[in-house]
Amino acid sequence: MRGLVDIHCHILPEVDDGAEDLKTAIRMLAEEQRNGVTKVILTPHFRRGMFETKMPFKRRQFQRLKAAVKHYEMDIQLYFGCEYHVGRHMIDRLDQESGYRMNGSRYVLIEFSSTHSYDYVRERLYRLLSNGYCPIVAHLERYDCFYQEFDRVNELLRMGVHVQITAAAVLGQMGYRQKRFCKKLLKRGLVHYIASDAHDLGKRGVNLQECTTYVEKKYGRELAEEVFIGKPEQILRERSAE
Ligand SMILES: [Fe+2]
Repeated sequence: MRGLVDIHCHILPEVDDGAEDLKTAIRMLAEEQRNGVTKVILTPHFRRGMFETKMPFKRRQFQRLKAAVKHYEMDIQLYFGCEYHVGRHMIDRLDQESGYRMNGSRYVLIEFSSTHSYDYVRERLYRLLSNGYCPIVAHLERYDCFYQEFDRVNELLRMGVHVQITAAAVLGQMGYRQKRFCKKLLKRGLVHYIASDAHDLGKRGVNLQECTTYVEKKYGRELAEEVFIGKPEQILRERSAE
């Protein structure tokens, strides 16, 4: 499958635990291309006390990477985003700085700690929604609270929350428990996006093509196109429609 959009990856160089330098970032983007990806939303971490790279530096790195892509004549579009770790001043930060959102849109890729309680997760998501944002829960397969009670996923979707899961988890590379959970989500049509969450060229690399083949075979072409292309394109369209 071609024309994929990877909405979650750590390819922006020198800012978090992803690509360590420009050369690695370019090699990771070449890998995205080989996987059939034509658009990438770069989502460096923001987490208080852990990943707090200043926004001007991140934007400069984004421009450097874009210039390198042009220099090597790579056919891949880059967009600026963020994987935002939930916190106290979340709404103020998102209101003031579009760089914490997905391509400056109202979509926010939001990350929790694996042990956060469901009440806390729901309250934070509700707060985002009531402030006009569209929260996308990053790698939903990682949070314990949904394994404790699966119906919680349905509740979030009814609220208007979007769900992203990781290609490696779908493929079973993160263990059987996560694979089984992803299967249940996909079977019931509860997934909006499947992304790479790539951090490097090795174990946490880009594997979307393998995943598209798998999803297409198991759940059909229509669902595969939706989670790898259709829904991600909606994020990008929102901004261009302004
Ligand atoms: Fe991530």
